[in-house]
Amino acid sequence: MVLMISCWAVSCGPDTTEFERRGTALTDLTQQKLQGELQAALKAGGPANAVAFCASRAQVLMDSLSRASGTQIRRATMRPRNTVDRATALEELALEFYTQRQLASDSLRPTVDVDNGVVHYYRPIILSKPCLACHGTLGEHIAPETAEVITAAYPDDRATGYAEGDLRGVWHVTFTP
Ligand code: HEC
Repeated sequence: MVLMISCWAVSCGPDTTEFERRGTALTDLTQQKLQGELQAALKAGGPANAVAFCASRAQVLMDSLSRASGTQIRRATMRPRNTVDRATALEELALEFYTQRQLASDSLRPTVDVDNGVVHYYRPIILSKPCLACHGTLGEHIAPETAEVITAAYPDDRATGYAEGDLRGVWHVTFTP
């Protein structure tokens, strides 16, 4: 464990630069596609409609980009909306790492960790203002009709109560040899 954390700090093992480049390109692309479809759904019918879009499309989109790139692309968090996004033990370490860095006002740049030949790329996801409509405070940022759709689709939702600038989660791309 200690070794892994020092790897994050100094970047050790095989040349990780190429994996960092690929991880950033893949998460940029996934983010861009999710954002594009989300914007269109918001425009078409507001947050309540866009929640329905996310519920049916987000995982499908990530799965298809994972398959196309021969990787596994995930968004992991300690407070998931979709339970499949709940952080694994490894992802928890990455989240803890970025929580500490954020507290220390250190750089939140992506990190690459190598574990038994498997390369893990992590990149923090920070909450911005437009996200509050679905991840902010109920009644304040989240409209009642949006809350209703969220609860219907995700009875165990834990992804509200966030503020702008909070660490919402991490992107995690796994490169298996
Ligand atoms: C229209 C509502 C809506 C908006 C706006 C929105 N989200 Fe989400 N978000 C969702 C839904 C619904 C899910 C669950 C998707 C799924 O089932 O995979 C989700 C899931 C996530 C997840 C995956 C972890 C989890 O909790 O399952 C992250 C990370 C995330 N959102 C970050 C953001 C960020 C950052 C923004 C702003 C740029 C944002 N969201 C804006 C509705 C929204």
